[in-house]
Amino acid sequence: MSIHIEAKQGEIADFVLLPGDPLRAKHIAETLLTDAVCYNNVRGMLGYTGLYNGKRVSVQGTGMGLPSHMIYATELINDYKVKTLVRIGTCGGLLQEVKLRDIILAISSSTDSAAVTRYFPGMTFAPTASFRLAQLASANALKMNMPLKAGNILSSDLFYHFPEEGDAYQLWRNYGTLAVEMESAGLYLLASRLGIEALSLLTVSDHLLTGEHVTAEERQFNFTNMTKLALSLAE
Ligand code: HPA
Repeated sequence: MSIHIEAKQGEIADFVLLPGDPLRAKHIAETLLTDAVCYNNVRGMLGYTGLYNGKRVSVQGTGMGLPSHMIYATELINDYKVKTLVRIGTCGGLLQEVKLRDIILAISSSTDSAAVTRYFPGMTFAPTASFRLAQLASANALKMNMPLKAGNILSSDLFYHFPEEGDAYQLWRNYGTLAVEMESAGLYLLASRLGIEALSLLTVSDHLLTGEHVTAEERQFNFTNMTKLALSLAE
């Protein structure tokens, strides 16, 4: 048992998927896993362990934003000795070449969050994906006929901006940043510091240049495809 997860030792697999939405964790457990058992309901942040193609995997909701995400990732690593964390989330497209429904593999994640920058005063750290997981995801995506876009993303503390900020994302576009979400840089920081492997896979649910967004059904369909790719990384 840890502060935010009530699972007993051994109830969580070495490989854990991390959706932000706990109900998505439930949906994944109910539709893609067999023999799934719920191990966490503290704060309604549902977590399940089950089997996917005979491999033991867990799926744990994390909530939104680096601070919430990092609470669950830290406890999974430190208290439950999890070895691999794969975030599955949605993101907002920043560049014209990024389209709605694209699947993005975050090779790296820049951030405006003090949850990362506080550790590097006057310097920058480059939160980076596990190369092994990125390579495997890339190879599996090819086999599964699922095109990926890979590159740098932005993990921001803010979803909403005041008008006086202007276009808060133009700076990041100037440097080729593909998309914005709110968690991956925290995950990659923890993976580096605590010695585990991590990867973030994201589907583009809305676009910050065009204002378009996918429907709720499409969001689910795209998400399920990406989740199958993430599950293919389990050993
Ligand atoms: N901003 C931040 N995070 C997001 C977005 C967004 O537009 N879409 C999905 N996650």
